Amino acid sequence: MIASIEIRPYESKDQAQVVALWSDVFKDDPPWNEPASMIRRKLTVQPELFLVAVVDEQVVGTVMAGFDGVRGWIHHLAVQRSHRRQGIASSLMIAAEKGLEIAGCPKVNLQVRATNSEVIAFYRSLGYELEERASLAKRLGVA
Ligand SMILES: CC(C)(COP(=O)(O)OP(=O)(O)OC[C@H]1O[C@@H](n2cnc3c(N)ncnc32)[C@H](O)[C@@H]1OP(=O)(O)O)[C@@H](O)C(=O)NCCC(=O)NCCS
Repeated sequence: MIASIEIRPYESKDQAQVVALWSDVFKDDPPWNEPASMIRRKLTVQPELFLVAVVDEQVVGTVMAGFDGVRGWIHHLAVQRSHRRQGIASSLMIAAEKGLEIAGCPKVNLQVRATNSEVIAFYRSLGYELEERASLAKRLGVA
């Protein structure tokens, strides 16, 4: 673990660094996950659960959490390649889970690509379990 990590809610001054991080880490994301649009939409719903990890005044990690009244969800957990395996994603997830608990959330769900074994290993290290579910989705007309 590194000593000087700060986990705090996203602020507007973070936008360029968050966009740069996601553009690197989520290169294959579909058009509806375009970073500026995702940030804009997230700031309209539980913005306090959009967290960044800051080291030496640089955003090196992100997570977006939300509670819909039934389940909590986690999106866009990402850590800059140069800062991985130092506990930053774990710290982000602990803070996100705490925020979800404060919101009254009893269970957290998240989706990762089935082929992404490293990320599955990460979540397992935090106590997440694979559930046998089919994941269905539908695009709506919102840009
Ligand atoms: C997954 C990710 C967020 C992990 O970030 P991180 O800050 O390196 O994670 P941590 O340092 O907190 O890891 C904690 C533990 O998780 C496990 N873990 C983390 N990365 C792992 C990997 N690549 N392979 C296997 N286990 C891993 C380890 O048990 C690790 O503990 P250790 O370092 O003491 O062995 C990071 O690799 C990442 O940004 N990946 C690309 C983005 C992505 O796919 N996000 C998830 C989909 S939304």
